Amino acid sequence: MTDHLTVVSHPLVQHKLTLMRDLETPTAVFRQLLREISQLLAYEVTRELPMTTRRIETPLTEMDSPCLEGRKLALVSILRAGNGLLDGMLELIPSARVGFVGLYRDEETLQPVQYYFKVPTELSDRLTIAVDPMLATGNSSAAAIDLLKKAGATDIRFLCLLAAPEGVARMKEAHPDVPIVTAALDEGLNEKGYIVPGLGDAGDRMFGTK
Ligand code: URA
Repeated sequence: MTDHLTVVSHPLVQHKLTLMRDLETPTAVFRQLLREISQLLAYEVTRELPMTTRRIETPLTEMDSPCLEGRKLALVSILRAGNGLLDGMLELIPSARVGFVGLYRDEETLQPVQYYFKVPTELSDRLTIAVDPMLATGNSSAAAIDLLKKAGATDIRFLCLLAAPEGVARMKEAHPDVPIVTAALDEGLNEKGYIVPGLGDAGDRMFGTK
């Protein structure tokens, strides 16, 4: 994967995203749509996984049939909203190992502070896909990627549902080696750091808090 930003314009993704943006969409439907979109985005983010072939016998003949080379994968959810992308992806890639990164924003310094970090071993051998639905300022995403690199990850991709240009720029500056896959690049951030037009607070909308 060479492009720094990939926007997945597939009609199914865009249709589901419109439903998710709509403030009338209830929590349960929002969660289900996120699960569905996560699988379509997973398709894109894993597009270049290395392949090999396996000798098999169909009912008619033998053939060398394509299959995954067996590259180790780690999915890392950036808490808490990342979990909404994680579940659907795990259905598609059940053998992936899973990690979690928890960060909160210090109200005084406005900098992300780590409160939880648990990731699979041997990150250096794995393709690591960090997931968080909203790439807003990019501060917490960049901090999460810093932590993953410190833990040994070298081949990292970032998967989100919506990105703001500010967040993409921040990530490009901090981690130009980490390609981003998203369903949409929105207009920008408002004064509270929300993505506009966006969909609101992804965590609140998926868990029904607030
Ligand atoms: N996080 C969210 O959940 N929504 C935004 O718009 C920005 C950050």
